[in-house]
Amino acid sequence: MSLLRAVCILTTFVICECAEKPHIVFIVADDLGWNDVGFRNPQMITPNLDRLAKAGVILNSSYVQPLCSPSRNCFMSGYFPYHTGLQDGVIQTEAAQFLPVNLTTIPQKLKQLGYDTHMVGKWHLGFCNWKYTPTERGFDTYLGYYSGMEDYFTHISQNHGGDMGLDFHFNKTAYRDANGTYSAHLFADRAIEIIDNHDKSKPLYMYLPFQSVHEPLEVPPKYENMYKNIETKKRRIYCGMVTALDEAVGNITRTLEEKGLMDNLLLVFTTDNGGPTYKAANNLPLRGAKATLWEGGTKGTGFIYSKSLLKKTGYLNTGMMHAVDWYPTLVELAGGENTDPNMDGVSQYNMLINGGASKRNEFVYNIYDEIDAAAIRYGDLKLIQGSPGAHNGWAPLPHLGIDEGVYEADNQTFPPFMLYNITADPTEHFDLSAMYPELVDMMKKRLEIWKQSGVPAQDNSSIPAANPKYYDGVWSPGWC
Ligand SMILES: *[C@@H]1O[C@H](CO)[C@@H](O)[C@H](O)[C@H]1NC(C)=O
Ligand SMILES: *[C@@H]1O[C@H](CO)[C@@H](O)[C@H](O)[C@H]1NC(C)=O
Ligand SMILES: *[C@@H]1O[C@H](CO)[C@@H](O)[C@H](O)[C@H]1NC(C)=O
Ligand SMILES: *[C@@H]1O[C@H](CO)[C@@H](O)[C@H](O)[C@H]1NC(C)=O
Ligand SMILES: *[C@@H]1O[C@H](CO)[C@@H](O)[C@H](O)[C@H]1NC(C)=O
Ligand SMILES: *[C@@H]1O[C@H](CO)[C@@H](O)[C@H](O)[C@H]1NC(C)=O
Ligand SMILES: *[C@@H]1O[C@H](CO)[C@@H](O)[C@H](O)[C@H]1NC(C)=O
Ligand SMILES: *[C@@H]1O[C@H](CO)[C@@H](O)[C@H](O)[C@H]1NC(C)=O
Repeated sequence: MSLLRAVCILTTFVICECAEKPHIVFIVADDLGWNDVGFRNPQMITPNLDRLAKAGVILNSSYVQPLCSPSRNCFMSGYFPYHTGLQDGVIQTEAAQFLPVNLTTIPQKLKQLGYDTHMVGKWHLGFCNWKYTPTERGFDTYLGYYSGMEDYFTHISQNHGGDMGLDFHFNKTAYRDANGTYSAHLFADRAIEIIDNHDKSKPLYMYLPFQSVHEPLEVPPKYENMYKNIETKKRRIYCGMVTALDEAVGNITRTLEEKGLMDNLLLVFTTDNGGPTYKAANNLPLRGAKATLWEGGTKGTGFIYSKSLLKKTGYLNTGMMHAVDWYPTLVELAGGENTDPNMDGVSQYNMLINGGASKRNEFVYNIYDEIDAAAIRYGDLKLIQGSPGAHNGWAPLPHLGIDEGVYEADNQTFPPFMLYNITADPTEHFDLSAMYPELVDMMKKRLEIWKQSGVPAQDNSSIPAANPKYYDGVWSPGWC
């Protein structure tokens, strides 16, 4: 063997050792409000989230979509939902809607880069055909449910039409052994099993979208009882659900430590949308709620944590980022390259890992297809066209005698265009549209340019053949 060759082999070995790809654990909370974590609100009992957030980087301008499926579409594809046909709402359980198959998902991309990929939790990106389901979209294994919501204990999902069925799968097999077990515990245990069985010589990507804390409001009494000081039952249960989620995250991170995976790992924690204030969540000081274009619907609670990868920690990062940015960011972290020129996301590796500036100065909050409503951001400015959605107030923390929705100014009417300076007015109290018509015009022109690349929303009509009665009582693919 020549000396040169020996040096080459040695160098390759050394480079491989130095450039070992980091593990990635991507945790999504469902419907968690801006003000529903202990690091913002002393009412909340979330010691694990607080510890990780404070030792990591709290994301203070990390935007998501107003609803579940659209945000998950962003995490998986790096595309805005108005570019994939998922802009108008959530995927209906019995509708033939799905994340388009010609998009390479993040687990598919990470698999190409050598990762083992596992998913635990809520999919909500379509299941009418097996080809749309997690194990055919890049995940080696999957435990979870396909629809948007279900019972936390029985794992039965009911659609708007009243059709009911079990919605729980292990890979492609209906999983009936979980009846009675609360999903936060189920998902934590499955995540721990994955970590325990993981071959440490391979990088791990685990996508962990919890059911917590979406409705129905359900939690084992132990967690509700931790909030005896809260008089309103719904809020007490909701807070208990958040604490169960926090405990699950604590158990998972403890296992990551014990198994030695934490030393070279990026943990991402994000909500999928703002909190539904009408279901006991809270977004103060932000305006609005889940399903609205207000900051309360779209500015997501999130943080990152790592023991070894972050150059700067323990601070509030105010750089602008959007849910579509995770895809290219994780690809760069994994040593890969994003080769899709049409992707909406940009890598925020430098901002998140090095504490550098954001690569983003604008984004689309959403552009609806069916209704004439949209919002965009450009620098400090936010333009809202049409109705921002229902629940337009600054709902206070629920307290005794105050039930859902009471504070919500649902029947407000709004001018056709509103303009806010989010930097000066993050809580959206002052519509500047009448004062700055020339800025409104400039923003309207930008919105028109964004709109040109939109695609029609996918058909959400109900397919009777989806009914679980045709599938042994289970929500199953096979009807499109
Ligand atoms: C996916 O298909 C749609 C519709 O045919 C097309 O507009 C889009 O460019 C395709 N995207 C990619 C990444 O291939
Ligand atoms: C899920 O699929 C993976 C990969 O094929 C396999 O290793 C695992 O045993 C499967 N689990 C179940 C419960 O089917
Ligand atoms: C779940 O368990 C409960 C209580 O044991 C039982 O009544 C129910 O029928 C079970 N549901 C399913 C889907 O097995
Ligand atoms: C966390 O682990 C403890 C100790 O094993 C267990 O009692 C608890 O139920 C777990 N919580 C969750 C949410 O998995
Ligand atoms: C289905 O789509 C139509 C047309 O876009 C929309 O009006 C309706 O609200 C949607 N239904 C649901 C349940 O999302
Ligand atoms: C509509 O708004 C008015 C004025 O704010 C309020 O008095 C009324 O109760 C509201 N109605 C509903 C149905 O919310
Ligand atoms: C928005 O507010 C910021 C902070 O007060 C200010 O610097 C900026 O000039 C404002 N932008 C516009 C367009 O008014
Ligand atoms: C973080 O975001 C909140 C809510 O929008 C805002 O009130 C606060 O000023 C932001 N903090 C910083 C340092 O920008």
